[in-house]
Amino acid sequence: MNKKILLYFALMVFGLYVMPNTVSLFAGQHTFYSGMGVSCEKCHSDILSQVEHSGDVYVKHRAAAGNYNYTTYLSLGGISYNATSITDYNNIVWNWNTSQRKWQNSSNPAEMVNVSLDKNGNGQIDSGEICMLCHNATLFGASTHTGTTVRVCDDDRCHGNLVYANNSPQILGSSSNITAAGYNLSQPNAHQAFYLQASNMPSSFGISETFGRMPGNVNGSFISRGFWTCEGCHTDTSVNITILPAPAYNHSVSSPEKKRYLP
Ligand code: HEC
Ligand code: HEC
Ligand code: HEC
Repeated sequence: MNKKILLYFALMVFGLYVMPNTVSLFAGQHTFYSGMGVSCEKCHSDILSQVEHSGDVYVKHRAAAGNYNYTTYLSLGGISYNATSITDYNNIVWNWNTSQRKWQNSSNPAEMVNVSLDKNGNGQIDSGEICMLCHNATLFGASTHTGTTVRVCDDDRCHGNLVYANNSPQILGSSSNITAAGYNLSQPNAHQAFYLQASNMPSSFGISETFGRMPGNVNGSFISRGFWTCEGCHTDTSVNITILPAPAYNHSVSSPEKKRYLP
């Protein structure tokens, strides 16, 4: 083999290696309105492995993705739920039809749904199937048909946000740690400042309406960066923090202002 051929191979290998980044320069928008026929992991295998290695966060979201009562509830725009009925934003009640094994529209009995993210029907959520829990437009009643949907931790319909806009008042209870994590974080506590600061910055992800309502974690026309705070504690993402030493205690003042650990 002469040098030219070797160089050719080297370039080819290098080319393959950098291609995903090149492709990403040109893409940026693709839509999976339902997306069920697309294998996300084909192109995003790196993300799949990140998701799979996120420990407890993965386990919990995998369970949520595999619960078709929950996924149907999300896709219908549910505001209240029990084992036999779902009430949606329009106050339509969907009852569980035991023989059909589907949720049936009580005001239009011909309409029955059961939204499952288990694309290959093997009874569990595997490989790319979990992506749909957070990136499927229809599941969140997103009005957009263009661009990929990104929904983040402090979405109204997931873990709440500082505005507590309460677009889904019936599902967001401020006493629930799970659906009001964002709201609770926005209240006075040691980590409040991080969340408020991040929430006041736009991320690179465009916002889309959910069932005709603007989510509370909006910043202009983007999703806010509030979710970075959640990632700071709940993922292995490294965070750069500069901890400033407390100002020296001034012994000459008898009643100095208390600075740390606000109420
Ligand atoms: C054919 C390859 C391919 C497939 C299949 C694919 N993607 Fe992508 N995806 C891309 C590329 C390329 C980008 C652009 C990356 C960038 O801009 O950095 C992208 C971007 C994204 C983004 C970021 C969008 C944004 O607003 O920045 C998300 C989220 C996403 N994809 C999710 C998915 C999901 C979920 C699936 C499965 C339904 C999927 N992708 C399937 C290639 C693919
Ligand atoms: C638990 C919810 C959740 C799941 C599950 C999930 N994602 Fe994401 N995804 C997010 C969030 C939140 C972001 C924004 C992260 C950030 O910017 O720090 C995101 C961002 C992305 C991006 C854009 C990354 C970038 O650099 O702009 C892509 C691509 C993506 N996800 C693909 C996937 C794929 C493929 C899967 C399935 C293997 C998946 N996601 C599963 C929540 C999720
Ligand atoms: C300062 C670190 C920190 C930040 C920031 C943080 N969390 Fe947590 N989170 C924790 C800890 C620690 C626990 C476990 C609490 C316990 O076991 O009592 C937890 C628990 C949870 C739980 C489980 C609650 C339950 O009752 O089982 C959820 C859901 C959650 N966090 C979501 C979020 C979301 C969403 C955000 C961002 C809006 C966030 N967290 C931000 C540290 C954090």
